Amino acid sequence: MMKNPFVTSGYEGPEYFCDREEETAKLIRLLTNGNNVVLMSPRRMGKTGLLYHAFRQAGIVDEYHTFIIDIYSTKNLNELVAEMGKVILNTLQSRSKKAFDKFVKVATSLRPGVSFDPFGNPNWNVEVGTIQSPSVTLDQIFDYINQSEIPCLVAIDEFQQIAHYPEKNVEAILRTYIQHCSNANFVFSGSERHLLAEMFSSPARPFYASTSTLNLESINLLKYDEFAKAHFEKAEKQLETGVVETIYARFEGVTWYIQKVLNYLFADTAAGGCCKMEMIEVAVDEIVKDNGTIYADLLYQLTIKQKELLVAINKEGKVKTITGSKFIKKHHLTAASSVQTTVKSLMDKQLVTSHLGIYEVYDKFFGIWLSRL
Ligand SMILES: Nc1ncnc2c1ncn2[C@@H]1O[C@H](COP(=O)(O)OP(=O)(O)OP(=O)(O)O)[C@@H](O)[C@H]1O
Ligand SMILES: [Mg+2]
Repeated sequence: MMKNPFVTSGYEGPEYFCDREEETAKLIRLLTNGNNVVLMSPRRMGKTGLLYHAFRQAGIVDEYHTFIIDIYSTKNLNELVAEMGKVILNTLQSRSKKAFDKFVKVATSLRPGVSFDPFGNPNWNVEVGTIQSPSVTLDQIFDYINQSEIPCLVAIDEFQQIAHYPEKNVEAILRTYIQHCSNANFVFSGSERHLLAEMFSSPARPFYASTSTLNLESINLLKYDEFAKAHFEKAEKQLETGVVETIYARFEGVTWYIQKVLNYLFADTAAGGCCKMEMIEVAVDEIVKDNGTIYADLLYQLTIKQKELLVAINKEGKVKTITGSKFIKKHHLTAASSVQTTVKSLMDKQLVTSHLGIYEVYDKFFGIWLSRL
């Protein structure tokens, strides 16, 4: 059976990647000319995909070691360093024995995590406990990068996470290492715009004015339409004109939602058949239904106040002044101060996002489910 060409998690190669030609070229041009880059966008727009895609390009693959370090689940500097070590070990092993050996030689502090099987193949298990002192390991990691025979590109994905670490000097520490590292360029990517903007554009902060910024926007609609049609046609299916446009408008050009709906539509269309406009609603219903249990669970875990505010935000769609009396009265909420604390708790749970001061329910499918309660 043919693979569903509309990927909904991870990166599966250029064939399944829609457009982003200009963004890829721009990112590469900046990095290969000695710039560090901040890559920002709302959630699920395609930052991580773009990183993988860019690092796969000819001219990068053979000329650079590339590392993508996702620090989303790290909680402190120690965990960040462990993750860096793990990714570098992982990447180098699948790439070159020479480079791997060199890294293990330099990064002595990670060695306790590396073992060899009877055939001499390395296995490793870099855990937080492996690292005795993050600064020693960081020294060694950057020593390796500086000595590497080919330059490195290092992407730290979900970089805003460091703002939540208990240590207050992580930015300064990283900045110092990066500043003195001539053999690598860095991408810092993330979706929490206010945190990233503060880190990189506030004169009082260590990273101030040290990077170029790339704001990732929606994929061009015409390109998306072409991409989707081509994949349908390859499977001998047709895609009615207007379908992509409708999905795109409904989900405001956010890549993941478009991919998800196209994935379901592709599955719902028989070979030789045609995907028609009226199938969109059916597919969206299916997606929402398939997640119903998860959504019900999420809702069940909320306090009454949180639930009420979540439903109110969802009803409104986008809320500009969340503590404004108009919004509060209309939805029979309590005082502004209480709304402020409650919305913060909803944001911590990633149920609500704010972008440029506008609040909305984070998962648009969850929003649809909520509106049907
Ligand atoms: N150019 C593209 N063509 C097709 N699918 C894409 C493209 N870019 C991203 N995707 C898909 O969209 C989804 C979201 O992309 P990705 O994870 O890269 O977004 P993100 O901005 O990193 O999100 P988050 O902020 O949640 O980390 C993924 O399932 C990915 O496979
Ligand atoms: Mg991502």
